[in-house]
Amino acid sequence: MNNRQIINVTQKYVANTYTRFPIALVRGKGARVWDADGKEYLDFVAGIAVNCLGHNHPAVARAIRRQSAKLLHVSNLYHIEPQSELARELCRHSFAEKVFFCNSGAEANEAAIKLVRRYGAEWLGGKYEILSTYNSFHGRTLATLTATGQEKVRAGYDPLPAGFRHVPYNDLRAMVDAVDEKTTVAILVEPIQGEGGVIVPDKSYLQGLRELCDQKELLLIFDEVQSGMGRTGKLFAYEHFGVEPDIMTLAKALGGGLPLGAMLAKEKVARSFVPGAHASTFGGNPLACSVGAAVLKTLLEGGALKNCVKMGRVLNDGLLALKKKFGFIREIRGRGLILGMELEQDGGKIVDDCMEAGLLINCTAHKVLRFIPPLVIGKNDIARGLAILENVLARHGASHSR
Ligand SMILES: Cc1ncc(COP(=O)(O)O)c(C=O)c1O
Repeated sequence: MNNRQIINVTQKYVANTYTRFPIALVRGKGARVWDADGKEYLDFVAGIAVNCLGHNHPAVARAIRRQSAKLLHVSNLYHIEPQSELARELCRHSFAEKVFFCNSGAEANEAAIKLVRRYGAEWLGGKYEILSTYNSFHGRTLATLTATGQEKVRAGYDPLPAGFRHVPYNDLRAMVDAVDEKTTVAILVEPIQGEGGVIVPDKSYLQGLRELCDQKELLLIFDEVQSGMGRTGKLFAYEHFGVEPDIMTLAKALGGGLPLGAMLAKEKVARSFVPGAHASTFGGNPLACSVGAAVLKTLLEGGALKNCVKMGRVLNDGLLALKKKFGFIREIRGRGLILGMELEQDGGKIVDDCMEAGLLINCTAHKVLRFIPPLVIGKNDIARGLAILENVLARHGASHSR
């Protein structure tokens, strides 16, 4: 099928929950993808921070081939070798001591919410409330959209579950003031807000949250669904801030393109999950976990993190140069290869024009162009992406000044 035919079938049969660009991507290699009409694009979206090793990476393809020839799926009624190995490696390389596997970011956060509720019931006299932040994004299940600090995500789903409150992000005082000693059990934040517009908080904010949690016996949950697995140049974003959470959620890049989520926790918290407390049929699936293990190994040993730091600098410098040139760019921000360019106005048209010119980017929080290419992207592809962007911005600037 070509683009048009795929779009027609999608519109007829697929639930209408997404605003989609009018192309269908059918093939990829590295940081490049092709649509059904054969047009090539540079992919600075990477499945929204999923394809950390790019498309068609040999380590991922090899793990899929090997594991699918052996065993695709068995129930968690039995022990699963790739699941145990991935859990061990995640714990080895993080603060965590136990892992619960699931299939998505929302489910990872749902697991965290359920775990802290059980912990509160068991150890803290029934405390249940979770404080999260405005502008955050934690998922689309009823509990996680309630934790999400964006009205548009919650609209239409009343009555929402009780036990969630929001405060401004990067505002320690607001969080301190919001804690209710009788009910609050946990604080849930993204170490870097992704969907909220690539917002990097002050180091003292996350450190302050840690101190607050220690003082008040609260649990600190970091949602690293977008910022984790190397995206910032370190395996986990919290490493930049010198702060460890009690619980961390992962998904997106964890499976390198296969659906895989995880909730990681310290043993003292994780032990509130006992047999029957939580479960997922596909969670920890042998195929997804063996690919996850290959992704983690490649990130740690294959130079992807170093490349992310290096290419992040190149991209950041290029974006800063564009900021100097175009007055309607307000700010460049981010870490590693999660970078945002905040504009004076809505960025939708620029995204459309970039796509037309062969560069895929997206826009979050209306005005922030987001750049989240594969972590293995090379210098030439960054340079090509920047050149396309510059052309589009120049045209946009010209039409603005008319
Ligand atoms: C920080 C964060 N948490 C949770 C989610 C939800 O993940 P999923 O779409 O896999 O449920 C996202 C998705 O964008 C995210 O960015």
